[in-house]
Amino acid sequence: MNVMVKCLLLLTAYLLVAASSAAYAPVKGAARFGRAPLLERFAWRILDWNFPSELSKQQAIATGDYQPENALPVGIEIWRDKLFVTVPRWKDGVPATLNYIPLDQVRGGSPKLIPYPSWSQNVAGACGSGLTTVYRIHADTCNRLWVLDVGTVGIGNETVQACPYTLNVFDLTTDTLIRRYVLRPEDVNSNTFIANIAVDIGKGGCDDVYAYMSDELGYGLIVYSWQLNRSWRLEHGYFFPDPLAGDYNIGGLNYQWHTEGIFGLSVSPVALDGYRTLFFHPLSSNREFAVSTRILRDEKLSANSYHDFQVLPERGPLGHSTAEIMDENGLQLFTLVDQNAVGCWNSLLPYAPSNQAVVARHDEAMIFPSDVKINRGLIWIMTDRMPQFLESEEGLNYTDVNFRILTVPVRDAIAGTVCDNTPWTFQGNQLWWDR
Ligand SMILES: *[C@@H]1O[C@H](CO)[C@@H](O)[C@H](O)[C@H]1NC(C)=O
Ligand SMILES: *[C@@H]1O[C@H](CO)[C@@H](O)[C@H](O)[C@H]1NC(C)=O
Ligand SMILES: *[C@@H]1O[C@H](CO)[C@@H](O)[C@H](O)[C@H]1NC(C)=O
Repeated sequence: MNVMVKCLLLLTAYLLVAASSAAYAPVKGAARFGRAPLLERFAWRILDWNFPSELSKQQAIATGDYQPENALPVGIEIWRDKLFVTVPRWKDGVPATLNYIPLDQVRGGSPKLIPYPSWSQNVAGACGSGLTTVYRIHADTCNRLWVLDVGTVGIGNETVQACPYTLNVFDLTTDTLIRRYVLRPEDVNSNTFIANIAVDIGKGGCDDVYAYMSDELGYGLIVYSWQLNRSWRLEHGYFFPDPLAGDYNIGGLNYQWHTEGIFGLSVSPVALDGYRTLFFHPLSSNREFAVSTRILRDEKLSANSYHDFQVLPERGPLGHSTAEIMDENGLQLFTLVDQNAVGCWNSLLPYAPSNQAVVARHDEAMIFPSDVKINRGLIWIMTDRMPQFLESEEGLNYTDVNFRILTVPVRDAIAGTVCDNTPWTFQGNQLWWDR
């Protein structure tokens, strides 16, 4: 860490900046993190939906179809004026799993979620016509939204597989489903829990696309080829959790997640050989791994690929991470759940703590960052206090703010850190992992 970064970190109070626009909810104890004003765009004590009428909402409450305290948002994605928010059906009473907030109409506060693409396509257990449970999603550069419906209701030993794992791809310009693909029985096992997806568009354009899905509890990676309309599963020892990294202290809570394997996925820009690199990490681990998509895209190559996977150095202590993302310049962002933070790695330099920095942190507003995205120069972070919801006796305190969506401009967030590698231009060569 250079002197300048150290000074910046020392001088920095890890607090939020006062909302610069009155449209955004002001934050208690507002201040700034580094040079980056971290804005609380949206914040909720409890989630609410945009029901067709007050009557239908009251009916949903009466029947138990809407139980506000059972809904926890986990994933976000941004496409034009839509901010997508996913809510798994871990408990009863989640009215819709895939939702959005219209950014052109709602500037801040605690907006009601709107089911996407419709209420009828969010009916739990309506296999073939409705989404049951969706975790993290991805909007690609060809205006498609990639949504894996894991088909489950419940969590842990109470999970019911209501529908099969189904990949749904929506055309965002028409809000229509353009591909539905049911994973093969061989793609999953009895422990399968897939919480994340990455999308790899190749040199060949919008049809040259593959999706990678991480099986966190069944320890596999499922590859889907858009062109072949076919999927396959890979297994590797690097998908497993580190047995020494299963202890967590988050938001004042100590608990163990020792079975949490491969979770975060991100794809690099296309390198000179025409392929991207998939970076990934297990949740219960401090380590990152990498593999070329040249291997993953080929069903035969990937079946015998042990030595094609690379082990990268550890992020260091308190390095548990859920989601990660890499932009077109090779800037990787990853959540740091133990630190109530999001970190960055400048991938033009080797993967090492000295080439990483914390770009956003807040000990109240950022308890459990569960997703991170980059869109048009802005970092978007979802935080949701998931451990309190899942692991504490009391659950969430619904008189307190529990869920937040925060933003900060990429340039401000990385300014003065090792990730600020101006000019941030990806050269397509001289990549250290490619040599
Ligand atoms: C699931 O596990 C919890 C605690 O470990 C237990 O209280 C509950 O009875 C179990 N439920 C089922 C359906 O086995
Ligand atoms: C893709 O494969 C599934 C069967 O797994 C089939 O139902 C679907 O029609 C196929 N889609 C296309 C576009 O070929
Ligand atoms: C719940 O949150 C509110 C608001 O922050 C706080 O005043 C209250 O003490 C909390 N209750 C518990 C039981 O922690």
